[in-house]
Amino acid sequence: MRVLVTGGAGFIGSEIVRGLTSAGHEAVVLDALLPSAHGPAAQRPAGGDDGRLIVGDVRDRATVDRALYGVDAVCHQAAMVGLGKDFADAPEYVGCNDLGTAVLLAAMAGAGVRSLVLAGSMVVYGEGRYACRRHGTVRPGPRDPADLAAGRFEPRCPDCGEALVPGLVGEDAPADPRNVYAATKLAQEHLAASWARATGGSAVALRYHNVYGPGMPRDTPYAGVASFFRSALARGEAPRVFEDGGQRRDFIHVRDVAAANTVALEAVGARVPGSFAAYNTGSGEPHTIGEMAGALAAAHGGPAPVVTGEFRLGDVRHVTADSRRLREELGWRPRVGFAEGMADFAAAPLREAGAGLTV
Ligand SMILES: NC(=O)c1ccc[n+]([C@@H]2O[C@H](COP(=O)([O-])OP(=O)(O)OC[C@H]3O[C@@H](n4cnc5c(N)ncnc54)[C@H](O)[C@@H]3O)[C@@H](O)[C@H]2O)c1
Ligand SMILES: [Zn+2]
Repeated sequence: MRVLVTGGAGFIGSEIVRGLTSAGHEAVVLDALLPSAHGPAAQRPAGGDDGRLIVGDVRDRATVDRALYGVDAVCHQAAMVGLGKDFADAPEYVGCNDLGTAVLLAAMAGAGVRSLVLAGSMVVYGEGRYACRRHGTVRPGPRDPADLAAGRFEPRCPDCGEALVPGLVGEDAPADPRNVYAATKLAQEHLAASWARATGGSAVALRYHNVYGPGMPRDTPYAGVASFFRSALARGEAPRVFEDGGQRRDFIHVRDVAAANTVALEAVGARVPGSFAAYNTGSGEPHTIGEMAGALAAAHGGPAPVVTGEFRLGDVRHVTADSRRLREELGWRPRVGFAEGMADFAAAPLREAGAGLTV
């Protein structure tokens, strides 16, 4: 199968390219080498495009048309990620993520490409799923900044104000995007579903949880928390853990995410025409941010984490996936355990500016 991997020079995309290639598929990459992801020094490869790496923007229809030549399926990873610097980033997020997806889907409709696997995200759920002893399953709203400033980090029951027990989020949980990036990731899914209905194509969104592993970008406002900790350790500093470190997440190794993409790409062409389905893509082994910082610091041999009590508006307290659907329907299994994965990541290099050109 010939697969177009958009964003294939990025952290996850480049691992997907490796996974596809070793499974006997052919990968073509379209990537704009965004400075926010690759640093200001990212350059086109010497000698120009070599046919497997097209340096260009998914918002540019002519480039996308060229990239789709002879392609059987598209694996859409290109996106601006992270929380960004401030709200002024919003047009760029919406442009890359949503206009870019619309241009890509229109080009796929034109070229008759009917199979799509989309990089989704658990951010579409907002706060995860919670249980109140009296009210059962509840969905707390955004946390009050005054509570956060006073160190009251746990969301409380919207009905009675009591403490809640966090649970696992299933794919059918209602969407509740809490920031611009989350809104753009949800819109991508809606666009993919519309495309599938209109063209008779089929689309699968893999809602990744917190992905970590070798090749993760260094710390920028666009990077994930594991990269902040890893970068601090590389400088000889202690990882700075926000809130009280008790935030629960599902950390999934990038190799397992790449494998999920391969199985989804191999299955998507045989799905019901016009269908769209979302799959949580997590390790199934929740851990706290504090545990993650501790595991990384220990494996790196660096200073122990410092819990700072700082917080970011728009962050959610707990969100952990129930990834049973992906395991049962597509036969995928995560293979990299938490301790092994963190030890591997603690020793692995982060991506430097200008990297990602060797796909
Ligand atoms: N890293 C995570 O924990 C995580 C979690 C959930 C979802 N995701 C999703 O996974 C995908 C890949 O993320 P990543 O972590 O590898 O980030 P990344 O920044 O390393 O990779 C994204 C790539 O997309 C490219 N890109 C961005 N906008 C583009 C455009 N308009 N045209 C062409 N290329 C463009 C960038 O240059 C970059 O190489 C994204 O869709 C992201 O939303 C990531
Ligand atoms: Zn209650």
